[in-house]
Amino acid sequence: MRVLVTAASRHESTQEIAEAIAATLADRGIEAAAVPVEQVATLDGFDAVVLGSAVYMGRWLGEARRFAQLHASALCRLPVWLFSSGPVGPADHPVPPGTPADVPVLTRLTQASGHRTFAGRLDLRRLHFTERTLARTIHAPEGDSRDWGAIEDFAGEVADALLGEHAMPDLSVAPDGGALACGHSVQ
Ligand SMILES: Cc1cc2nc3c(=O)[nH]c(=O)nc-3n(C[C@H](O)[C@H](O)[C@H](O)COP(=O)(O)O)c2cc1C
Repeated sequence: MRVLVTAASRHESTQEIAEAIAATLADRGIEAAAVPVEQVATLDGFDAVVLGSAVYMGRWLGEARRFAQLHASALCRLPVWLFSSGPVGPADHPVPPGTPADVPVLTRLTQASGHRTFAGRLDLRRLHFTERTLARTIHAPEGDSRDWGAIEDFAGEVADALLGEHAMPDLSVAPDGGALACGHSVQ
């Protein structure tokens, strides 16, 4: 079984999360590669996909949204999990709270089995001038808030689902009980 773990990242921290997920899958005996989303040309040969993005201004990065749109018909026929990486600060008071705006439509588009939001890293020295100014304006706390245990747990759940006897989703019924409709669009 080959699993593609792919993510859009501006300043590496989300790519490092993708690598950690791939490493946990590999520990479970699953062949897994962590590839930046802009380097993936085809999903041929993959049996499942974990797709993620850093969140900026409440949205997934454009490369990840475009990837989901471009590969929608393949994604909705494979087991797919989504993750977002963004909130910083203490776990009980993440900044900002809540689910990124794109996640509901991306979940429908890909027929994803699940989505998880992970805390991110804010290192002002890595940011462009405008990003730094914005981060200061919203008083986003600096630091690495990534929770490697939570990331490993998520990857473990993905591995359990893939290795379990119910690995493949039921493609006849959408999660809301309606007919499966691959091919929604995302802006
Ligand atoms: C200008 C700016 C805007 C951000 N907006 C959000 C946001 O809306 N929601 C969120 O959860 N995180 C937001 N973040 C935090 C980033 O998502 C976080 O730093 C993430 O770990 C960056 O991932 P990357 O290193 O892969 O680019 C923002 C960070 C910056 C610098």
